[in-house]
Amino acid sequence: MIKVFADLQALSHAAARLFADEAARAIEARGRFCVLLAGGETPRRTYEILARQPLRDMVPWEKVHCFWGDERHVPPDDPASNARMARQALLDHVPVPATQIHPIPYRSSPRESAGAYEDILRDFFSAGPPRFDLVFLGLGEDGHTASLFPGTSALAERERWVVEVSPAGEVMQRITLTLPAINQAALVVFLVSGAGKSRMLREAQEDVTPLQDIPAQLIRPADGELLWLVDRDAARLLQQRASGG
Ligand code: 6PG
Repeated sequence: MIKVFADLQALSHAAARLFADEAARAIEARGRFCVLLAGGETPRRTYEILARQPLRDMVPWEKVHCFWGDERHVPPDDPASNARMARQALLDHVPVPATQIHPIPYRSSPRESAGAYEDILRDFFSAGPPRFDLVFLGLGEDGHTASLFPGTSALAERERWVVEVSPAGEVMQRITLTLPAINQAALVVFLVSGAGKSRMLREAQEDVTPLQDIPAQLIRPADGELLWLVDRDAARLLQQRASGG
């Protein structure tokens, strides 16, 4: 399903409200809420809204467990760190216990970081697959999501939940969750904003490009829901527009 909002602000309010609703639902059902946070710039506003009233008081933060879908291979205080962005925008301002914040560890190599995060996830989801209650993802202009880039071997991974990647043309190496991990989620939500995303959003929605060329299209929860929250600028090339209300 796709919902279109007037602008990033409206989209972010909806995403933050959805986070609070899903947290309440998961905690009521299972006593905890496991969320996978996205990097990039688009979710920053959502995180800031969650850190403020009224949403701040609506979320039982002591029962929230935060994970990340991807990370650059940088120390935790590096400006390029996704975990750092989420801390600054959200986690430094809400009472999530430190032991429930699970960033991708920075080790001596991306492969070691990936292995360490896999251990953390397998330990946490000891009963089986990594069933996140909510996954936030972004969409790159080249169709990547998390750090699943077109044409990389990470797309073919079927066993490991976390792998290292060296995106073509990028200096920074990255660590990403894989399709078998992300697609176990109960709910995956893409946040897409801006005219720069409009061409790729159309391609991702239209199912005409070969699947491996648009990694975002490979996100298909096996037993969960998929939702796209987009703004009007991003949606401008879509044939049918749905309203976010
Ligand atoms: C990252 C993300 C990446 C991001 C997209 C969109 O860490 O960069 O995991 O997949 O979501 O590149 O980024 P923007 O929201 O900044 O456009």
